[in-house]
Amino acid sequence: MYKVHCLNNISPVGLALLDDEFELTGTIDDADAILVRSANMHEMELPDTLKCVARAGAGVNNIPLEALAERGIPVFNTPGANANAVKELVLAAMLLASRDIVGGVAWCRSNADDENIGKAAEKAKKQFAGGEIMGKTLGVIGLGAIGRLVVQAAEALGMDVVGYDPGLDAASAKSISSTLQVAGDLAALYAASDFITIHVPALPSTIGMIDAAALASMKDGVVFLNFSRDTLVDDAAMAKALADGKVACYVTDFANPAVMAMGNALVIPHLGASTAEAEDNCAKMAVEEVMDYLKTGTKTHCVNM
Ligand code: MLT
Repeated sequence: MYKVHCLNNISPVGLALLDDEFELTGTIDDADAILVRSANMHEMELPDTLKCVARAGAGVNNIPLEALAERGIPVFNTPGANANAVKELVLAAMLLASRDIVGGVAWCRSNADDENIGKAAEKAKKQFAGGEIMGKTLGVIGLGAIGRLVVQAAEALGMDVVGYDPGLDAASAKSISSTLQVAGDLAALYAASDFITIHVPALPSTIGMIDAAALASMKDGVVFLNFSRDTLVDDAAMAKALADGKVACYVTDFANPAVMAMGNALVIPHLGASTAEAEDNCAKMAVEEVMDYLKTGTKTHCVNM
């Protein structure tokens, strides 16, 4: 019987797929497989019994990939399983950044006891007005599972979309959408975009890529959206760009003290993949990967070997 340990809450819909060769264990000490979402495994002592790790999600920066590879332990992720959830939050973020919906809702709440709130609201509303996203240009950095859904959804809402992905040739990029404009480099995407959203993993080559130079090459008043990882953005450079008005709004799914101190940052508590559907999809894919590997040695979506 294989023992599976969950380091985070993993959807019961996925766990229910474990067949009679598998059982859940409450301790990591005798685990054959680990299912993980956001727990940081870098400093964890991992048992000799461990044979594989599956992350219910796309990013794997919380897992010691190389150390596990050296021990012959594959790590799997679940690319695409939560892509729709992230796409929907990116759309919401663009709308929240375009009109002061957050401020308007807070205003209503703070005037809840006013019997004449309807009349007062009509007077107050001009301070929360904004613009529309239709006709604006969205730059999408990274055209993987999430980026390509964002391209299609944004175009359906009437936006012009420019995409950039060094791993994709122009023909493959065009297969996402025939109207997608494919940028030859990031500079071209920065120069063209009113909104920019980034969908790349946190790697040595991408960490800090949104730095002062990148921000300086963007349009004045750009809205920058980060639903990938906080480390992609140089927080000090972003704070300055917001203070200078270079960036009109920074929407980030990653709370940290630096972003909480930024004016014009909309900070969301890592909700991109937090939908029932995405959690079920990720858990199902992760459990299937673990079962396949332990039963047959098949490695699906292995990220470290
Ligand atoms: C991901 O990497 O896909 C997300 O961060 C998943 C999550 O929110 O757990």
